[in-house]
Amino acid sequence: MLNIVLFGPPGAGKGTQSQIVMNRYNLMHLSTGDILRNAMDRKTPRGIQAKKYMSRGELVPDELVIGIIGRRLDEYLNKTNGFIFDGFPRTTLQAKEFDIILAQKQISITLMIELEVDHDELISRLMKRGQLCGRSDDQDIDVINNRINIYNQSTRPLMEYYKAQGKYVGINGMGDVDEIYQRICSVIDKEIQK
Ligand code: AP5
Repeated sequence: MLNIVLFGPPGAGKGTQSQIVMNRYNLMHLSTGDILRNAMDRKTPRGIQAKKYMSRGELVPDELVIGIIGRRLDEYLNKTNGFIFDGFPRTTLQAKEFDIILAQKQISITLMIELEVDHDELISRLMKRGQLCGRSDDQDIDVINNRINIYNQSTRPLMEYYKAQGKYVGINGMGDVDEIYQRICSVIDKEIQK
């Protein structure tokens, strides 16, 4: 199974790239952000709980997202060639629990690919999306900055966890969508050919 963690700060292009990479390799895209936004729209108990964190640009509690991922894995495990995880894991606790869950299913992460994007470019992409399609956490520059700060403090250190397992690759996430896609595919193809 090919299991990719697509990693990077808010606005790095994780969701955009996941959509095209999943088609090329026949993977299931699991985005915790999308799942939580869907729960928020449907006003489910999980969605209501998540909303107060997401509206401030804070991480939702670990137990909530770990539970979501565990259930989705069970649902799709026998129906796919692998997964592309977008926005998960985001804390060391999530990564450790995730490894335990994966090991119980006799699978593991193949690669963590980080999209490296300049701070000003992140702000510009998110502000533009905030004006165009109104995602609520893109509407306020303080919330955007909070999301980026939390990424730098709590999420980016996770790269060390995957580096220690020999699974981390950083790539340039600046440029147009297709050239970044080609960079991601060349990393995955190299791994597949090993
Ligand atoms: P989540 O939905 O994961 O959002 P995020 O990490 O803030 O990331 P974004 O979706 O903003 O950016 P992206 O990297 O996917 O870029 P995208 O392709 O969309 O999380 C939202 C919230 O949910 C979190 O703040 C947290 O509260 C909660 N949450 C989620 N997972 C969690 C977890 N595991 N633990 C705890 N809490 C969790 O692109 C952004 C924009 O840029 C788009 O408009 C796109 O069209 C544009 N764009 C993309 N690529 C390019 C390019 N190459 N050039 C120009 N524009 C581009």
